[in-house]
Order: sequence, then C-alpha cells, then structure tokens
Amino acid sequence: MSDNIQNVLQMQNVVMQFGGVRAIDDLSLDVNKGEIVALIGPNGAGKTTAFNCITGIYTPTSGGVSFNGSSIKGKSPDEITKLGIARTFQNIRLFSNLTVFDNVLIAKHLRARDNVFSATLRLNFAEERRMREETAELLKEQGLYELKDEIASSLPYGLQRHLEIARALATQPKLLLLDEPAAGMNPQETQELTDFIVKIRDQYDLSIFMIEHHMDLVMQISERIYVLNFGKLIAQGTPDEIQSNPEVIEAYLGGSEDA
Ligand SMILES: Nc1ncnc2c1ncn2[C@@H]1O[C@H](COP(=O)(O)OP(=O)(O)OP(=O)(O)O)[C@@H](O)[C@H]1O
Ligand SMILES: [Mg+2]
Repeated sequence: MSDNIQNVLQMQNVVMQFGGVRAIDDLSLDVNKGEIVALIGPNGAGKTTAFNCITGIYTPTSGGVSFNGSSIKGKSPDEITKLGIARTFQNIRLFSNLTVFDNVLIAKHLRARDNVFSATLRLNFAEERRMREETAELLKEQGLYELKDEIASSLPYGLQRHLEIARALATQPKLLLLDEPAAGMNPQETQELTDFIVKIRDQYDLSIFMIEHHMDLVMQISERIYVLNFGKLIAQGTPDEIQSNPEVIEAYLGGSEDA
C-alpha cells in the first residue's frame, strides 16, 4: 500500500523509449483522490504517450505506474479498466455503426467479463438485464436517453464527445483520463464541457486527469497542472503558478495556442 491513501495515480520516473525517440523522459507525477489535474504541453510533448503508459497500451521502458498504491505496470488495458481507470481518446473512438445504447452497454460488458456471474446461463441472463438497466440509468443521468437508438456516427460532434465520456463512465471508474476532450469545440461548447467535467467529478466521485490545449478550460477547473515539453516535466503547480512561470510561457503559453 502507498503511504498516502489519498494518492490515486502515481507515475514514478517513467521513461518511454520508441527506438531513438524518448517520448517520455523521467516523468513523475501524481493525482489525488477527487482532484482535477491537467497535463499540458506543446504538440508531440508526450502527453498521449503518458496516458498510454497509464492505461496499459504501452509498458514503460522504465519507471513505475501505480493506482491506489498498487503497481499496474505491465497489466493489460482490460485489466486496468476493471481496476477502475477509464479514458477517452484524442480522436473519438466510438463503435460508429452501433447505437448510443449499445456503445454504453458494450463498455459494461467489458467491465463484467470473466466475473463469477458468467458461470451459469441463468445468472448471465440476470447479469445482462442488470447491465441493460444500468445502461439506461446512466443514459438518463447524462441526458442521452432519448438518443439511445440513434447510430453513434449520426450524432453531432459534441454529442459524440459526450457519448464517449458516458461510455467511459459505464465502467464505473475511479479515475477518468480525458485526452483533449474539448478538441474541435467552439468557445460555448468548451464552457459547457468545463462545467460538465466538474459536475461528473462530483456526481461520480471521480479523480480526473486531463490533457487539454484550451487554456481557459484548464485554468478554470484544474487544481494542479503538469507541463510537459519534449517528454520532460518542465513545471508543475497551481493555475496561477503555471500562468506566471517563465519557462512555461516560453515553451507553450506564449506560442500559438492551437485548439
Ligand atoms: N508508438 C510510437 N512509436 C514511435 N513514436 C511514437 C509512438 N507513440 C508516440 N510516439 C512519439 O512520441 C512523441 C510524443 O507523442 P504524443 O502523441 O505522446 O504527443 P502529445 O503530447 O500527445 O501531442 P499532441 O498534442 O499532438 O497530441 C512524438 O514524437 C511521437 O511521434
Ligand atoms: Mg496527444
């Protein structure tokens, strides 16, 4: 166990090397229970790679990743989902030909697979019914229930982003990783998303770790911010500290702010 039970996610001296490219170079960071923490930095800084190291898509070349005090390094993405980490992707990844309902239901299946209930058909049936009820309930909570029979790809972009977050919530995560949730959104949509992130943190008792380029969103709701540049952590602190950090301004905030 970790000496600090409030510590949900910890990366310790993580290195991720791809051939000659060191995408992550000695990255240490943590996310505490209930926090909203942002990871920012220029394009190619290694932010998505950091998420891939947390979620088991990559196994770090060296260093450690732990969740609730236990190492998750080397575990598969499915195992990590079941432990309670969910994510969304920089480019929306929905089952585009399936309905809104089925996109969420499949996430429930992923979470439940291989559990004791799969032992008998009868219990499988009960389990399936429970998952369908939970899916309906989650869609209602998210205001997406009227759209349950719509094909995912037919939804407007903002709703697809919302559905992707709902699908992540379906696995009942304790830690939610959002990779550029506001990408492609206009200022009004971005503001709605900003409020929405705080709302789901409170409603579902989550810790949230997000990558974002929209600085208004990041500065409004992040309790702490980490700044990556060329795979290295160049700053960490509160929004005020980050906004006045000369190295950050030089590397990032002073440059062109792409959205
Ligand atoms: N599987 C891989 N093989 C080789 N290089 C990789 C791989 N994945 C990432 N990289 C490299 O690692 C570096 C960091 O990429 P990453 O996608 O993590 O950046 P990012 O900070 O998420 O950027 P963006 O803001 O554009 O999304 C880049 O140079 C990228 O080309
Ligand atoms: Mg990225």
